[in-house]
Amino acid sequence: MGAGIAQVCIQAGVETVGREVSAELGEGARARIEHYLGRGVEKGRLTEEDKAAALARLRTTTELADLAECDLVVEAIVEELEAKQELFRELEGIVGPEAVLATNTSALPVTAIAGATASPERVVGMHFFNPAPVLPLVEVVRTEASSPEAVEAVYAFAERIGKRPIRCRDTPGFVVNRILIPLLNDCVRVLDEAGVTPEDLDTALTAGLNWPIGPCALIDLIGVDVHVHASEALHEALGEPRIAPPERLVKMLAAGRLGRKSGQGFFNYGM
Ligand SMILES: NC(=O)c1ccc[n+]([C@@H]2O[C@H](COP(=O)([O-])OP(=O)(O)OC[C@H]3O[C@@H](n4cnc5c(N)ncnc54)[C@H](O)[C@@H]3O)[C@@H](O)[C@H]2O)c1
Repeated sequence: MGAGIAQVCIQAGVETVGREVSAELGEGARARIEHYLGRGVEKGRLTEEDKAAALARLRTTTELADLAECDLVVEAIVEELEAKQELFRELEGIVGPEAVLATNTSALPVTAIAGATASPERVVGMHFFNPAPVLPLVEVVRTEASSPEAVEAVYAFAERIGKRPIRCRDTPGFVVNRILIPLLNDCVRVLDEAGVTPEDLDTALTAGLNWPIGPCALIDLIGVDVHVHASEALHEALGEPRIAPPERLVKMLAAGRLGRKSGQGFFNYGM
């Protein structure tokens, strides 16, 4: 996600510093961005000059201290509360007093991340969707402590980089995942309840509701592991039975059938 967000920023003309934990990972992220920009050139969406200019705006580093001059930091590290809290505490001592600290977390409370800092008023959720260069939505998540200035700065920044931001409170799942996770779990239960094949279920929702992608293909894309983890977190927060991951998905996870990334999920990806 970090590389995708950095790509969106440099394409929008923003000088960007990408921090990874090792130089190799940083270079890997840069190479991925270069690859996607190259595909954009092939498809005529940007010129070679645009690509070179965008890449020149990206500096990669392993040093947090290199973020000192940033007006906005968008954190997209592993989805672990302690790691994020520690990072935000460190960042506070590095960036300027006016800098806004945003988190791309999907399932952790922004409030719990902000609560680890001495200045929670400048902490805001900035939730991108995967792949960040393709999907326009950004959920701008405010906590009780977020200052209106910090929230509006993140909203304005999302617009500046060509995204479609919305504002919401810090509730479990924010907006999209609060709706999508129980919905996808209902879809999976219908497979067994109605004796439908994954192919037919996907046809039902693409041909009957005009969904751009069927629920089984979507779970394969998200990753069964990611979806089960997100379902468990949301279920723990809200307690509604239909949010818990269905048995079928738990079995797929145990069998290593994770979707596209493992070559097999509801469907086969020929790996
Ligand atoms: N994958 C998605 O679909 C998606 C969508 C929206 C939001 N998110 C959120 O974005 C964040 C990142 O997700 P991802 O899927 O890119 O995860 P990932 O595990 O693929 O990537 C995390 C990256 O952060 C790096 N990192 C940098 N600093 C770190 C530190 N201090 N500690 C640990 N790792 C550090 C790791 O090296 C790794 O490359 C998570 O909070 C996730 O919930 C993910």
